[in-house]
Amino acid sequence: MTGGAGFIGSEFVRSLLGADASARITVLDKLTYSGVEANLASVADHPGYTFVHGDICDADTVDALMPGHDVVVHFAAESHVDRSIEGAGPFVLTNVVGTQVLLDAARKHGVGRFVHVSTDEVYGSITEGSWTEEWPLAPNSPYSASKASSDLLALAYHRTHGMDVVVTRCSNNYGHHQFPEKVIPLFTTNLIDGASVPLYGDGGNIRDWLHVSDHCRGIELVMRGGRAGEVYNIGGGTEVTNKELTGLLLEATGTGWERVEHVADRKGHDLRYSLDISKIRTELGYEPQVAFADGLAATVAWYRDNRAWWEPLKAGLQPKAAQA
Ligand code: NAD
Ligand code: DAU
Repeated sequence: MTGGAGFIGSEFVRSLLGADASARITVLDKLTYSGVEANLASVADHPGYTFVHGDICDADTVDALMPGHDVVVHFAAESHVDRSIEGAGPFVLTNVVGTQVLLDAARKHGVGRFVHVSTDEVYGSITEGSWTEEWPLAPNSPYSASKASSDLLALAYHRTHGMDVVVTRCSNNYGHHQFPEKVIPLFTTNLIDGASVPLYGDGGNIRDWLHVSDHCRGIELVMRGGRAGEVYNIGGGTEVTNKELTGLLLEATGTGWERVEHVADRKGHDLRYSLDISKIRTELGYEPQVAFADGLAATVAWYRDNRAWWEPLKAGLQPKAAQA
C-alpha cells in the first residue's frame, strides 16, 4: 500500500487490519506534509503491519519491497488542487513518474493485482448529468492532469503487458484525519478557532461528498472482485454547492455568515463533479452507507475533539491555506 499515512490510505489500512488478524500490509509512504505516521498508531502492533518510510519515485526502494506482495493498492499522490496551481512539479513527479515506477516493479515481480486509486476530477467538469466510466478524460488542473496521466498509464500497462490493473475514480471524500487544507477540515477548524473562512468565487461550485469509509469500502470491493482492466466510479454521496456546505458547517459550529470571507476564485475552478455509479453498484453490490448529515456531524465533532492532531499540521501551513 502506498500513501498509507495519508487521509484515505490510513483509513484503508486501519479498516483492513482492524477486520482481519491474519492480514499483512506493507505501507510505503514518504511522509510528505500530508503524511502522518500517527494516523496508523492504532494498527502499529498488528502482527501483519510493516511501515516503510520511502518515496514511490525511488526505483531501488520500490524494487526491493515488491517481492512477496500479491496486491499493490496505490494511494500515494500529491492531492491538493491549489498546490498544483502554485507549482506542478511535485505532482508530475509523484503522481506520474511514481506510478510508472510502481507499475514497472509490480510487473517485474509478478504482483497479482494493481489497484490504482484515481479521482473523478480526471473527467473535468460537468454541468448536467453524471459521468460513466466511458466518459472521455478532460482534466483541468495540473493535479487532475497528473492523475489522468497516471490513470491512463495504469490502464495502458493492462493493455500492453496484460497486467491485472483496476482503476477506481472517486468523488470528494470527507471525514476524520483529512489534512486541514481541504475545504471541510479547513473551514471547520477555522470556525472552531473563531477565524473566518475563505469561500472561493460565488460559492456555486458543486461537489459530491462521500464519507472516507464508503470510499474505502468501494476500493476493497474493487480490489477483491473488480474485473482486470476495468475502471469503477465510486461516489453516490451528496451533491451540494460550496455555499450550502459552508452553511452546514456554520450551523454545526454555531457560527454565522459574518465569518465567511468571499475571496477570489480558484483558477480554472471546476464547476461540478457528478458520478454515475451504476457499474460498481451492479457488478459489486456497492452502496454508500454514511448519510451526509450524520457523517458531517461526526466529522465536525472529531475535529472539535482532536485539536492535538490538526493544530500542529495547520501551524505548518502557508498563511494563504491556513487563513486562521
Ligand atoms: P493525502 O494528501 O492525505 O495523502 C497522500 C499520502 O501520500 C501521504 O501520506 C503522503 O505522505 C504520501 N505521499 C505523497 N507523495 C509520496 C511519494 N512520492 N512517495 C510515497 N508516499 C507519498 O491524500 P488523500 O486525500 O488521502 O488521497 C489519497 C489518494 O486518493 C490520492 O491518490 C488522491 O488522488 C485520491 N483521491 C482523493 C480524493 C479526496 O477527496 N481526498 C478523492 C478521490 C481520489
Ligand atoms: O473530487 C475528488 C477530489 O476532491 C480529489 O481528487 C482531491 O484530491 C481532493 O483534494 C478534492 O479536490 P477539490 O478541489 O474538490 O477539494 P477542496 O477541498 O480543495 O475544495 C472543495 C471545494 O471547495 C472546491 O470547489 C474549492 C472550494 N474551496 C476550497 C478551499 C480549500 C473554497 O471555497 N475555499 C477553500 O479555501
